[in-house]
Amino acid sequence: MTMPMAPSLSTDTNSVRVHDRSFRPHISSEKIRSVVADIARRINKDFAGQELTVLIILRGGFVFGADLVRMLKVPCKIETLRAASYHTGMMSKGMIDVEEVFPDLADRNVLIVEDIIDTGNTIVELIKQISSLHPASVTVAALLSKPEMHKERLLIDYVGLEIGPDFVVGYGMDYAGYGRELDSIWIVEDDPA
Ligand code: IMP
Ligand code: MG
Repeated sequence: MTMPMAPSLSTDTNSVRVHDRSFRPHISSEKIRSVVADIARRINKDFAGQELTVLIILRGGFVFGADLVRMLKVPCKIETLRAASYHTGMMSKGMIDVEEVFPDLADRNVLIVEDIIDTGNTIVELIKQISSLHPASVTVAALLSKPEMHKERLLIDYVGLEIGPDFVVGYGMDYAGYGRELDSIWIVEDDPA
């Protein structure tokens, strides 16, 4: 039998190591569940009697999107779109790359599902591109938002929680590609260096 390679992720209750940094607990899975339920309740109320196309932004939005759609009570189509913002380490560089093939969104009530809004560059670009496809409406649900980091004033329809500028990981969100599988959200610890 070959020994498995050392995992990049080791966790105890107070600290998790993801790639080359340590993170501490920030938002529990119980809290996340209640925040997602609250967003779903508002969407169900606002879109009662209508249909939605839920557009989950990959990759970070896949966990939030999967939990959210299972709490929706309006008829939904589910689509995905890959968008990547360029990062150096934990800093957004302000450029984004959106998948070229968009689903058909014409005349649909499109609900964009994002994990987190940082500078806002990604969501602003997505709203611009999606709006050009003649949807009936465009709304945004973001699990987290970092208001101090926004480059311009943003009106996000459904925000789960506002957080400070520090980098977080888990519940779909990654650091250097790792940590998306964590079921709660963790915040970076000060670099000891
Ligand atoms: P923005 O374009 O600067 O708003 O960045 C949005 C994207 O950057 C999000 O969809 C995430 O993929 C990623 N991102 C921003 N902040 C964080 C964070 O704290 N942890 C993990 N990913 C983040
Ligand atoms: Mg993202």
